[in-house]
Amino acid sequence: MTNVQTEQLKKFVFSSKYTVNGEPLEEKLEIIIPELLQASYSFYTWPSAPVLAWFIWENREEFYGKKVVELGAGTALPGIVAAKCGADVILTESATLPKSLSHTRRSCQVNNLVVNQHIKVIGLTWGLFLGNLDLLGPLDYIIGSDCFFEPATFEDILVTVAYLLDININAKFFCTYQERSSDWSIEHLLSKWDLECIVHNINNLGNSIGLNIHDLIGDHSIHLLEISRKS
Ligand SMILES: C[S@@+](CC[C@H](N)C(=O)[O-])C[C@H]1O[C@@H](n2cnc3c(N)ncnc32)[C@H](O)[C@@H]1O
Repeated sequence: MTNVQTEQLKKFVFSSKYTVNGEPLEEKLEIIIPELLQASYSFYTWPSAPVLAWFIWENREEFYGKKVVELGAGTALPGIVAAKCGADVILTESATLPKSLSHTRRSCQVNNLVVNQHIKVIGLTWGLFLGNLDLLGPLDYIIGSDCFFEPATFEDILVTVAYLLDININAKFFCTYQERSSDWSIEHLLSKWDLECIVHNINNLGNSIGLNIHDLIGDHSIHLLEISRKS
């Protein structure tokens, strides 16, 4: 159960300005993320998450009506933004971490997303091929923020992604990767699992409202990757 005494609510605002027939318009989305301080990994929104969430927000027309699964969702900012933009979203967290799964559900609840009605939350452990992978059904996008935080699990993540991309041949995996050590790399694993990767520029995210993405991520070095099956 969530320890409400240590919960803090963090607000994230996404907006865009544009003109239609000379008329200035602004669209805005506010997401509230509950965080548990002094807890680990899944109870805190990592700097990679707002970057992926901004990418989804700016591409919301592309995500509308699409089937999306988020891996290692934690507080689930990107998946919740996708759901609010009209995607059909399944949030996943390690099946071995029931408290993390219930925190992911709490994030949905705080944003008025009813689990099993507006959004799904299921246990999915990277590298474990249990029946739940097939229950995901056809997918358009796999998303994941800061899943590559521990080299010992890099291959487990990519094996899971490779399997999902095998059964969803047109799907793509959009993920944000925080560079923690220059010795760490997923390049050889992408090649081993027959995957290819495009690096997207994150500097233009939020341009229409004058956002400087580096104000969100501070000194961290974060990359936005699009991984797909080698063509
Ligand atoms: C660094 S946190 C990132 C959380 C969130 N995506 C974010 O960016 O704020 C890594 C997440 O991966 C989850 N995780 C760790 N090992 C996992 C595994 N073997 N299978 C599935 N999820 C796992 C953790 O519980 C945690 O939520």
